[in-house]
Amino acid sequence: MLIAAAILFGCKLMPKKEEKENSKPMTEKTLYGTIGADSVFQYTLTNKNGMVVKILNYGGTVTDIITPDKNGKMGDVVLGYDSLAGYRQTGNPYFGCLVGRYANRIANAKFTLDGTEYTLAANNGINTLHGGLKGFDKVIWTVRSFTGSNLSLSYSSKDGEEGYPGNLTADVMYSLSDDNGLKIEYTAVTDKPTPVNLTNHSYFNLSAGVDSTILDHELMLKADKYTPVNGTLIPTGKIDDVKGTPMDFTTSKKIGRDIAQVTGGYDHNWVFQKPENRFDMVATVYHEPSGRYMEVRTTEPGIQFYSGNFLNGTLKNTRGGVKYVKHAGLCLETQHFPDSPNQPAFPNTILKPGETYQQITVYKFGIK
Ligand code: BGC
Repeated sequence: MLIAAAILFGCKLMPKKEEKENSKPMTEKTLYGTIGADSVFQYTLTNKNGMVVKILNYGGTVTDIITPDKNGKMGDVVLGYDSLAGYRQTGNPYFGCLVGRYANRIANAKFTLDGTEYTLAANNGINTLHGGLKGFDKVIWTVRSFTGSNLSLSYSSKDGEEGYPGNLTADVMYSLSDDNGLKIEYTAVTDKPTPVNLTNHSYFNLSAGVDSTILDHELMLKADKYTPVNGTLIPTGKIDDVKGTPMDFTTSKKIGRDIAQVTGGYDHNWVFQKPENRFDMVATVYHEPSGRYMEVRTTEPGIQFYSGNFLNGTLKNTRGGVKYVKHAGLCLETQHFPDSPNQPAFPNTILKPGETYQQITVYKFGIK
C-alpha cells in the first residue's frame, strides 16, 4: 500500500518530462568556451513577452536579440557567430561587443592631455580605432550580478593599457524590460585624467535573417548636423548641416535610397539636436516586411551610423553559416564624437579623478 501511495503521490507531484522541460527557467548561464584558464559564459535575459537577449562576459558581447515580427514569429535581429571562435577571429568587426576605452577613431593614434603626449596603437591605418589592439571588446569582464532581467559587468583597465593614462574602472549594466527595451548603463571612474567613450557595437538586421542587407530598412535620426570626415574617417572639425544632402535622415527614409551618393557608404557621426546630456529618443529603424521597429534613446550627444560597408562575406563561424555581405547589418553606436581628444571644439570626453562618467542607451523593440 505504501508503494502504491508513493507511486500515486509521485505521479501527482513529479512533472512529466515534457512539463519539466517547459518549466525550465529561461534565465541561464551556460559555458560558451574557454580562453586559457578563463571560462566564457553566455547569460540569457528574458522578459514576460518571451523576448530574449544573450550576452557574453567576453567583451560584454551581445550575441542574440530575439524579438517577434508582426506575426509573432521570433527571430534574431543582430548579426552573430555560432561559437567563441567566431567572436575571437582576426577581423571580427566588433559584432555586439562593448567598445572602450575610446570608441571610434583617434587621429594619428595620438593625443595630448595636460601637456603630455600619449601614443596609442595605430590599428586602423595611421589611426587608432575602438580602444586599440586589445580594447574592452577583447577582455573578460567580471560579472557583478546576474538576474533573469539584468547583467552587471565590470572591467578595470590599468594605467597605461593600450597607451591610455589612469586606472579606469568601467561598469556596464544591461537590463531587459517588459516593454522590450534593452537598456545599457555605463559608468566609469579614473585615478588620472583620461579620455573615455564607451558604446555597444551591435549590428542590427531587423529582418532576422530574411534580407541579406539593411538597404530596405527605414532610418530616422533626430540630427540636423553631422561631422564630415577626411579620407581616413577622421572628422575635419566642421559640423555641417544634413539638409539637402544624402546625410539627411531627419525624416525616415530607406538606407539604400541615397547611399550610392556617399563615398564608401554611411560611416559618420551625427550630431543630435537635443541638449548634450538629456536622455531622449534619437533614432528609429523600421523594417516594413517584418513589421519590426526599433527606437534608440540615449544621453549621448552623437551617434555613429555605420551601414556595414566593410562586411564582404568572408567572416567565419557565422550563425547558421550565413554570408554577411556588404551592408548585412547596421550599427547605431551612441557616442561622443570621434577624435574628440584632438578636437577642442567637440563635447568633452576627458574624465577626471573624482568625476563619474555616466551614459545610458536604450534599444527598444516593437512592431508596426
Ligand atoms: C566604424 C567603422 C568600422 C567598424 C568596424 C565602426 O564603428 O565606424 O569604420 O569599420 O566600426 O570596426
